[in-house]
Amino acid sequence: MRVLVTGGAGFIGSQTCLELLRSGHQVYVIDSLDNGNIEALKRVKRIANREFGFGKFDVRDRNALNEVFSEFQPNAVIHLAGLKAVGESVIEPAKYFDVNVGGTEILLRSMEQANCQNIVFSSSATVYGRPQYLPCDEHHPLNPDNPYGRSKVMGEELLRNWSNRGNDRHAVALRYFNPVGADASGQIGEDPNGVPSNLMPYVAQVAIGRLDFLRIFGDDYDTVDGTGVRDYVHVVDVALAHIAAVEQIHKLSLFEPINIGTGNGISVLELVNEFQKQSGQRVSFQIAPRRTGDAAAVWADVSNATKKLGFKTKRGFDNMCLDTWRWQSQNPIGYRKTIDLI
Ligand code: WQD
Repeated sequence: MRVLVTGGAGFIGSQTCLELLRSGHQVYVIDSLDNGNIEALKRVKRIANREFGFGKFDVRDRNALNEVFSEFQPNAVIHLAGLKAVGESVIEPAKYFDVNVGGTEILLRSMEQANCQNIVFSSSATVYGRPQYLPCDEHHPLNPDNPYGRSKVMGEELLRNWSNRGNDRHAVALRYFNPVGADASGQIGEDPNGVPSNLMPYVAQVAIGRLDFLRIFGDDYDTVDGTGVRDYVHVVDVALAHIAAVEQIHKLSLFEPINIGTGNGISVLELVNEFQKQSGQRVSFQIAPRRTGDAAAVWADVSNATKKLGFKTKRGFDNMCLDTWRWQSQNPIGYRKTIDLI
């Protein structure tokens, strides 16, 4: 298939492009490089040993987008371009709606114009908000408690309406739980701008010596050891879920939300211990107050992914930690060539 990937220079995007190329698909990437990194794409090209198209522009640039659609004529779009920092979304909500919702609206119009009928959308478990029951299945109420999560619910609504309005249109919203890890090559991985807000990259930077110690946000939750529990899922499995979705999209109903996780909950302390075991490095930590808005525990019911896509994650938590460490130890300062003065 010819697949247009928006946001293809990001953490999930670059891995998804690599897996698309490895599976023999033709790929065209568009990315503004505000968050993504051109070095990631250079390495994807080298690992896959295959060429692909690239356009450096924001998904909201209609003219540039329409040009790519008429040139490349994609059979499907994987839409990953967007902003994803929960904390930042609270400070700048308008920016999040403009990029995440406005960008999706513009993309769908370009798809209509080009008669491109298939889209796989990067959604998030954040759409569920504080879990009312566990594991969360796709019927769980959508009750996000931050602008980022609300922008993803609105993006899904645009897809639902778009797919209902045309004939033979299909839209899949993949609701990622907590993507972590890196490609086994260690050449591409997660490289957050500035100090990481997410747990795994923060732990990796403590292990490599870029950060002094981890603050564990609360150890008094009603969980196995008092620390927060999440459903961590290997980024290669997340990428392969996109391939499964794009290849089988015609078998699905017009709009299909699908959880992407392992179905297992891991605590912060369990992650720290496994990371120390896999990396052989000490990860110092201190207990800090709870982070506002955090739920005690979140993990996925993944039966729908198996039922609708025949998809199951294959990589275990040990791999997630080992592959993260290989990436971080081979790239102590990520894709940058010079140390950022943090
Ligand atoms: C995981 C656990 C923290 C950092 C977020 C977004 C979500 C999705 C994935 C995009 C929690 C604890 C964390 C730290 C800590 N992104 N923690 N110290 O909050 O589950 O989800 O990322 O779709 O939208 O909300 O992930 O990695 O931030 O936190 O103790 O320095 O680690 O309290 O229990 P989260 P996270």
